[in-house]
Amino acid sequence: MEPLPLMTVQQHILEEQRRHHPDASGEFSWLLSGITLASKIIADQVRRAGLVDVLGSVGQVNVQGETQQKLDVLANQALRLCLGRRGNVGIMASEENAEPIVVPRDRQHGKYVVIFDPLDGSSNIDVNVSVGTIFSILRRAPDPEGKRDPLVDVLQAGVKQVAAGYVVYGSSTMLVYTAGNGVASFTLDPAIGAFIISNPRMTMPAKGNIYSVNAANSDSFPEPYQQFLAKLRSGEAGRTYSSRYIGSLVADFHRTLIKGGIFLYPPTRHYPQGKLRLLYEANPIAFLAEQAGGIASDGRGRIMEIPPTSLHQRCPLLVGSRTEMKLLMEMLASA
Ligand code: AHG
Ligand code: MN
Ligand code: MN
Repeated sequence: MEPLPLMTVQQHILEEQRRHHPDASGEFSWLLSGITLASKIIADQVRRAGLVDVLGSVGQVNVQGETQQKLDVLANQALRLCLGRRGNVGIMASEENAEPIVVPRDRQHGKYVVIFDPLDGSSNIDVNVSVGTIFSILRRAPDPEGKRDPLVDVLQAGVKQVAAGYVVYGSSTMLVYTAGNGVASFTLDPAIGAFIISNPRMTMPAKGNIYSVNAANSDSFPEPYQQFLAKLRSGEAGRTYSSRYIGSLVADFHRTLIKGGIFLYPPTRHYPQGKLRLLYEANPIAFLAEQAGGIASDGRGRIMEIPPTSLHQRCPLLVGSRTEMKLLMEMLASA
């Protein structure tokens, strides 16, 4: 067997930049290395979760009214520390913080905004099931006076993302990333502590045979969603489907990206606007999906075109292969 070229994520980003943005300063790869450093710290904590005192909740609720797990807090700290010292991140925003985080020393000239879900799939931490980190990177204009409301920089539509990705802490730790020129994946080699390339061009199959949804909510989905799922189950859609639902968006999407099919979190009785968060869940996932040849919608239009109005806003998320997504969108449109 041919050995894989030992290409690290750093090298890959630098080479991509040289190809697509020959005048780039290299600052962007420095920023990304803040994310990979934080993700190694998080991966280390996740791997040892049963050995050190990081399981369970901290007895607080976050801005979403959800119980914060110890690992949510640790992961948030790791990202804030690693990204806050890059010198080019002016503003950060996190699921775990009510307001955007201003980096005082880089508020005026920091070229980037990074928005993240430090630990996605918290309910799976205590049961040794895959969790992840999701990030979205936006550009920002200089703010020489340092007076601009940080929310102005944060509330940009998904089409403005310059890069996005996730790290899945699964049976291996994998980084999946796009900067708008396709999607590449890297696996953390624990022996050398580096993310090494696994697939330089990930593409989502045009159709799949898995659907992924929290079926316990299905009675409260709007009618067309129920009809769509019934169609997949009955074989009317032309193939036999299986269902898989992990309950960590990162892990459910990772499978959908590789195997195709569809993941959906529609509006429910409990979450009439959908449960997932636009800025740090739906947008980065949508960017990856589109870059891999798939589709991401909120049931009305492209996720990445939704104009954000608040940091923690929710939206329905329907994402997956073109075939399943087109069928669902047709059924929603004609309902
Ligand atoms: P988080 O742990 O960051 O709060 O995200 C949880 C999300 C997402 O990962 C997953 O797709 C969804 O919640 C699962 O929700 P249900 O338990 O309602 O199915
Ligand atoms: Mn999440
Ligand atoms: Mn989270």
